[in-house]
Amino acid sequence: MKLDEIKLIEFPKIEDARGNLSFIQAPDTLPFELRRAYWIYDVAGGSSREGHAFRRQKEVIVALSGSFDVVLNDGESQRRFHLSRSYYGLYVPEMTWRVMDNFSTNSVALILSSTPYEEADYIRDYAIFQNEKISLS
Ligand code: TYD
Repeated sequence: MKLDEIKLIEFPKIEDARGNLSFIQAPDTLPFELRRAYWIYDVAGGSSREGHAFRRQKEVIVALSGSFDVVLNDGESQRRFHLSRSYYGLYVPEMTWRVMDNFSTNSVALILSSTPYEEADYIRDYAIFQNEKISLS
């Protein structure tokens, strides 16, 4: 994967004076079949989560509430995305090193995943990530 595969997906947005509504619906909205959703919450303001990459998991990250940054690295270059709108999702392909930081107080990060949870899919060491990346290219 290269950084140019990363993209922001704009979800449908139904604007309404009573409150806006967005949704995802198979098979159109996500670039993969959804197998799992999880969310990160109760994160102390300003804090960060340790980096890792997934060997197979593709994901879309949404700032459902508040804001945070997602820093993505393809082994060569790095890009920082600031997520703060719940009608945008950041698509992250497999084999991308990602760090999430700069969480605002009370933020909620929703992660839509292409795979069930599997610890063996995680690469938690950046040097191992780089080696696996090189062997793929
Ligand atoms: P992890 O993805 O390692 O979080 P982070 O790297 O952001 O700190 O998940 C932390 C723990 O939560 C992990 O050890 C196992 C558990 N977990 C599940 O059981 N199912 C899941 O879908 C996820 C994402 C985590």
